[in-house]
Amino acid sequence: MQHIEKYQKSFLKYLESFTVDREPKNLYNPINYILELGGKRLRPILTLMAAEVFGETKENALDAALSIEVFHNFSLVHDDIMDDAPLRRGKQTVHEKWDLNTGILSGDAMLILAYQLFENYDAQTFQDLAKLFSKTALEVCEGQQYDIDFETRDDVTVVEYLKMIEFKTAVLVGAAMKMGAIVAKASIEDQNAIYEFGRYLGIAFQLQDDYLDAFGNPETFGKQVGGDIIENKKTYLYLKTIELGSDDDTLNLKTFMSNSELPNTNKVEKVKALFNTSGASEATLNAVKDYTNKAFEVLETLNISDDKKQSLRLFGEQLMNRRV
Ligand code: IPE
Ligand code: MN
Ligand code: MN
Repeated sequence: MQHIEKYQKSFLKYLESFTVDREPKNLYNPINYILELGGKRLRPILTLMAAEVFGETKENALDAALSIEVFHNFSLVHDDIMDDAPLRRGKQTVHEKWDLNTGILSGDAMLILAYQLFENYDAQTFQDLAKLFSKTALEVCEGQQYDIDFETRDDVTVVEYLKMIEFKTAVLVGAAMKMGAIVAKASIEDQNAIYEFGRYLGIAFQLQDDYLDAFGNPETFGKQVGGDIIENKKTYLYLKTIELGSDDDTLNLKTFMSNSELPNTNKVEKVKALFNTSGASEATLNAVKDYTNKAFEVLETLNISDDKKQSLRLFGEQLMNRRV
């Protein structure tokens, strides 16, 4: 991702000034740990790109970008508790490295820190950012609750699933971009269009994430491969296996998923084989393409130059082809 390097560099430098040693250590060290673990920094990069696209300097969007990244990492700390995940970005999750209480409280503090970063903007911008942020953060909670509720339901539909990933993942990607547009004081029309672009890209991103959760390379993926299968997540792969597979496929899928006697490694291998033979894997990759294309259609409606559209398009294409 050559052309995004300048945004990444500038963001990482700013992040460094944020992750300073503070007391009490047991509150702030886990915050610095998760923020410094790495990751793709997609959301803050999108905030900086959006600001520039609408004629603002990326420097003026750094606080909004950092707010998005701090919020995102807060949601990961709590998500890893909820999903009982041992690994994040190839390292121990916060609640594994410390403990449950540390994960809860450090996460809470991160949410507050994320809000606090808006104080660096003028009153109108502050209000617009805070309003968008509150709406988005609440939707993320709603998406997270649906995700958990779906684990114990066996009648989840694709429509319900799409709503769930829109809320838990896509609205934050949309908000990341809209925040860049807000800082740049872009027109309401453009603010809404870039939000839609980000939202579609976010849905594509989560579908790809579901695919990689099962089929990613354990060496590079950074999370426990098969984690969704172990946790009985109703992913697109799962729902499409039921829709496209034979009656036997569906029966086998439900038997493997509900069999608590089956060791996790066997369960993961058997379920992955069903994802492939049913055609669900291919359908998932096609859905990633479809939602990326929807994002590109929205891109055309933006009042920006063709080369700016091109650079956002390139970003979307790279995201679609990612393996981590
Ligand atoms: C996480 O969703 C969404 C939020 C943190 C709000 P997932 O549980 O599917 O994401 P990963 O696979 O742990 O990153
Ligand atoms: Mn989750
Ligand atoms: Mn998770």
